[in-house]
Amino acid sequence: MNIKDLLRVSDLSRSDIEEIFELTDTLKKKRERGEVYAPLAGKTLGLIFSKASTRTRISFEAGMLQLGGHSIYLDQHNLQMSRGESIKDSARIFSAYLDGVVIRTFSHVEVEELAMTAMIPIINGLTDTHHPCQILADLYTIKSRLGRLEGVKIAYIGDGNNVVNSLMEGAAIFGMELTISTPKGYEPDADILKMSEEVAAEAGGKISLCRDPMEAARKADILYTDVWISMGQEKERAKREKDFKGYQINNKILKQASKDALVMHCLPAHRGEEITAEVIDGDRSIVFEEAENRLHVQKAVLQLLLS
Ligand code: CP
Ligand code: NVA
Repeated sequence: MNIKDLLRVSDLSRSDIEEIFELTDTLKKKRERGEVYAPLAGKTLGLIFSKASTRTRISFEAGMLQLGGHSIYLDQHNLQMSRGESIKDSARIFSAYLDGVVIRTFSHVEVEELAMTAMIPIINGLTDTHHPCQILADLYTIKSRLGRLEGVKIAYIGDGNNVVNSLMEGAAIFGMELTISTPKGYEPDADILKMSEEVAAEAGGKISLCRDPMEAARKADILYTDVWISMGQEKERAKREKDFKGYQINNKILKQASKDALVMHCLPAHRGEEITAEVIDGDRSIVFEEAENRLHVQKAVLQLLLS
């Protein structure tokens, strides 16, 4: 894999992703066997977070440790960056002390700026616009369940947010058929949509928008959703709760999908909002397998970028 940073899914080629998945298989087996494997011994990863996290933080910290390395959790509010130290100066300091950085923040442009000035790999752990690590784990999960990605039909129902922006980029690369159903005014990023439509068409897939969630779910192999209110949107709660009524994965929508359809959610979930308890805790749900795969896939990313 010939890239320095992982800021968005489209930084990767199809063969880069296949390389990540191949290494993921190996690392997953090693962990199952309890084998000690330390390709990142002596390396240190910085984790800069200005938003909450359970999965991303823990899986990167544990993953780094399992690969023989070390990590340092850095709450962005306690860094001098929060008091105005420039990204450029911070990047020089990180590059002197660390071997890689995972950053979770609001502005994607800030992360691009950090990557541009840092000499070490920068990994996007979620911005308002992208969540590449999530989607790599999701694609890996779909591939391990269905044996393929090409032509798989996914219906994403909910908010046109960071998760679906990254899902569009990933689905496009593999020629998947992704239908996105959001309320009016909550569509995914228009530029990413346009670019993904083009990439998908070349790969034999299709990305499309569909207002009616029942229609979007028809014959889908995968139903995917995410929260109605993302981190940083808490003030919009009342309006969003109203606007998103009907954009919920429940048994009625599940019946529209293919008879073996699987249900995915990046978590954290809000049962009774974007998904019902019945569905997320039911036998079609693979959300906890999806969450576990975050660890294995990110370890592969760490090994490929940091060693
Ligand atoms: N899905 C995900 O990124 O979870 P966290 O917010 O807990 O990291
Ligand atoms: N869209 C959600 C994803 C959380 C993992 C958010 O940004 O809060």
